[in-house]
Amino acid sequence: MGKQIVVTRSVPESALDMLRKVGAVHVCPQDRPLTVPELHEAVRGAHGVVTMLHDRIDADLITAAGPQLQVVANVAVGYDNIDVPAVTERGVTVTNTPGVLVDATADLALGLLLMVTRRLGEGERLLRARQSWTFHLGFMLGTGLQGKTLGIVGLGAIGQAVARRARAFGMDIVYTGRGRAPAEVEAELEARFLPQHELLRTADVVSLHCPLTEQTRHLIDESALAAMKSTAVLVNTSRGPVVDEQALAKALREGQIGAAALDVFEREPEVEPALLELDNVVVAPHLGSATTETRTAMAELAARNVVAVLTGNEPVTPVRP
Ligand code: DGY
Repeated sequence: MGKQIVVTRSVPESALDMLRKVGAVHVCPQDRPLTVPELHEAVRGAHGVVTMLHDRIDADLITAAGPQLQVVANVAVGYDNIDVPAVTERGVTVTNTPGVLVDATADLALGLLLMVTRRLGEGERLLRARQSWTFHLGFMLGTGLQGKTLGIVGLGAIGQAVARRARAFGMDIVYTGRGRAPAEVEAELEARFLPQHELLRTADVVSLHCPLTEQTRHLIDESALAAMKSTAVLVNTSRGPVVDEQALAKALREGQIGAAALDVFEREPEVEPALLELDNVVVAPHLGSATTETRTAMAELAARNVVAVLTGNEPVTPVRP
């Protein structure tokens, strides 16, 4: 019998064509995330599984799939949905999609930042509500980015791409993370490393680009928010649980920080209702990588990974435990 490949949610046809060259492809028909029992049922007998960020991939899933399973290819750069040690220990390769979504995600981070600092959401709501308005010098003033300091948490590929764009807007860059970026990256971006508490204290904008791990869960909590400037803007395009949303809503309501722009949420797809009440918040439904070009590239990279493993080759972008 040939190889069986399960795709948990629809992906572009070009990726399916690549997969069909090495096996029989089953795309789960539901237009929603699968429940855990549905997911376990769907992967039974699969040699390769193409997964989404909402699929929980752990030892139980590997058991449900069976011993023939060779590869799990996540169509996302983040892989906090996968228990990588448990899966790889069982001889299954895990892959993700780094690189191809860097520009799209960085573009969106800057878009959200402009949206919140120039009050574009508020302005649009005003017009759509058919409220009367006239131009005057004090009308709907926002804040400029020029000369402001952008604090990047996690100066990886996406963090660097955000910093590069922010430099073009005239911002100064500071960053924090697990360690120093390579000297040439610091030099190109004129980026200064700061300990996290220093960065939170001094940045006008804090943009999150770290993965979700046990160390970064609620990295932005009540005390982190209290350390930030009262005018500071928080941008999150990483993972929702990096921010304590209730603490954030409170800090925004009480003027402890100035504004927030969020593409990701703690309990996606739910959004903390208190955040939706606030005018100094802009929200987007996890659109960081949502361009046709990028999503196609992500799906094709996942397919290349499956094809590589099922044909006995090295995966292109493996995740190591
Ligand atoms: C990722 O890749 O991790 C994004 O959150 C979705 O594109």
